[in-house]
Amino acid sequence: MCVAFCCMVLSVYATGSDMCINHLGNGQSLIRFISIQKYLLLPIEEKANEARVSLLVDNQVVNTMNIRLAVDKVDYYVPYELSGLDVGRVLLDIQGITENAVCWNELKLSTSFDKNNREPFRPSYHFTPEYGWMNDPNGMVYKDGEYHLFYQYNPYGSVWGNMHWGHAVSRDLVSWEHLPVALAPDGLGAIFSGSCVVDENNTAGFGKGAIVAFYTSAGRSQTQSMAYSLDNGRTFQKYAGNPVVTSDIRDFRDPKVSWHEATQKWIMILAAGQEMQLYSSPNLKDWTFESRFGEGQGAHGGVWECPDLLQLPVKGTDKKKWVLICNLNPGGPFGGSATQYFVGEFDGHRFVNESPKVTKWMDYGKDHYATVTWSNAPAGRTIALAWMSNWDYANQVPTFQYRSANSVPRDLYLYEQDGQTYLASVPSGELLALRSKPVKKGSFKVNKSREVKNLLKANEGAYEIELKIGDVHAKKCGFQLYNSKGESVSCVYDLEKKQFLMDRTLSGETAFSDRFPAVTSAPLTMQDEYAIRLLVDKSSIEVFDGEGRFVMTNLVFPDEPYNHLKFDSEGGSFRVLSMNVYKLNK
Ligand code: FRU
Repeated sequence: MCVAFCCMVLSVYATGSDMCINHLGNGQSLIRFISIQKYLLLPIEEKANEARVSLLVDNQVVNTMNIRLAVDKVDYYVPYELSGLDVGRVLLDIQGITENAVCWNELKLSTSFDKNNREPFRPSYHFTPEYGWMNDPNGMVYKDGEYHLFYQYNPYGSVWGNMHWGHAVSRDLVSWEHLPVALAPDGLGAIFSGSCVVDENNTAGFGKGAIVAFYTSAGRSQTQSMAYSLDNGRTFQKYAGNPVVTSDIRDFRDPKVSWHEATQKWIMILAAGQEMQLYSSPNLKDWTFESRFGEGQGAHGGVWECPDLLQLPVKGTDKKKWVLICNLNPGGPFGGSATQYFVGEFDGHRFVNESPKVTKWMDYGKDHYATVTWSNAPAGRTIALAWMSNWDYANQVPTFQYRSANSVPRDLYLYEQDGQTYLASVPSGELLALRSKPVKKGSFKVNKSREVKNLLKANEGAYEIELKIGDVHAKKCGFQLYNSKGESVSCVYDLEKKQFLMDRTLSGETAFSDRFPAVTSAPLTMQDEYAIRLLVDKSSIEVFDGEGRFVMTNLVFPDEPYNHLKFDSEGGSFRVLSMNVYKLNK
């Protein structure tokens, strides 16, 4: 049988399994299987061009993925699922790769795919995909004790492409169970970012308590589609009437849907070029345009993406205000992507920004993007999650088996200062459960310089430092995390410039992109004492002001954990009132 079809019969990995590869000489090859196993392991070379891999069953194309099959060398493998397919009816049509590429000898059938975590930079308590590429958090929704996290996912390589919604669930926002892909590309396009709601009153008619997902179908045009799940997100049915919202605007995406109590309607906010558009609906299916927001407001250095619209209490008052979260790329304060927000009023039709002249940033690091909040979160909480990377270099960071992590979850509230209302972000309380017993290193005076060596005995790179600084007579209060390789991250309270700064130019591997080395800065409110929490993981540092008045999220790629801290003062002394170091264990 094979003789007629094949140029080459490949004896593979698993005994008794074969496949026949027929090169057609024009960059097209066909693969037929003699037997099938759960996976075909595909060899990937990240710098190779994308080949188009189509799965055909009974001569019909089931799907087509763009996959960087190895031409010169293999960087890693990804699993291509074959389980459930009938061997005699399957054909793989691979286009755009030559006969002499190395991939042809490296294809392997296998019953398993090794998901062991071997990469030194893979975070220990931040969410990462098991393998492959991740960007924006999507469809975050809480239901029946579970926090669902969907995310922009490429299962066929660790660079952007083939957007699916990956899926994981957690009961505590810290330990995540990976679930199968929730939504895969279809005839309307790839599955771009979006949101989920719980349709408690069955307004859409899919079923009471259905989880309804909204996403952008990214095909030739960007349109908004929906899908629903009646089994708590384990499987989704795409709505036959898709798309439900269309436009002739090129960048038209990332629908975030929420219930507006006062008007008893669903509201969809989505990004359209450099503005946000608002729609309303009684039933999640029929949407009416309400208004647009954005012209002349905030930063416009790039495309607006991934919006969110929510109401939050203002701390210390009985007021509530509306917040419009707007992710922007490029045009962030340190280059590339960042999250800005607007505070104001929303009446179910129109959002009005109360301070159109002020640009407000949600995080002052370089690696905080696509931030959105959980829908239906319990106990009146508003919990946000960001993608911890930046489009400036996201595809180049030095990891392979997986690429990108999320920030830690953060609880949001508003506070007032100098006539403005700002958004505060604090690490979600669940993170405290990660702490081991504190190693106490304070208190002491810093006059010029003071070292605290060996922060932790066996430092594996996942820890928290809680610092309180007071008795400040200095112009600058600095501290520098460093390791024995001479790699360091320097932070400083610059009390003259009223700024908090973090410098990662010497933090470890930085050369993968000339946009990676950076000094980031946040405005500082002058206080008698400064409390701060540093959440450090194997490749990130998130600095939280004790009151949540600023947050700074930056990636770092050190050769070994920073296990020493050096304080220094300029123009006078200060005191470290307390310093606790906690190993963070999952
Ligand atoms: C933001 C974004 C979204 C889009 C998605 C595609 O990072 O560009 O606007 O839906 O990523 O993966």
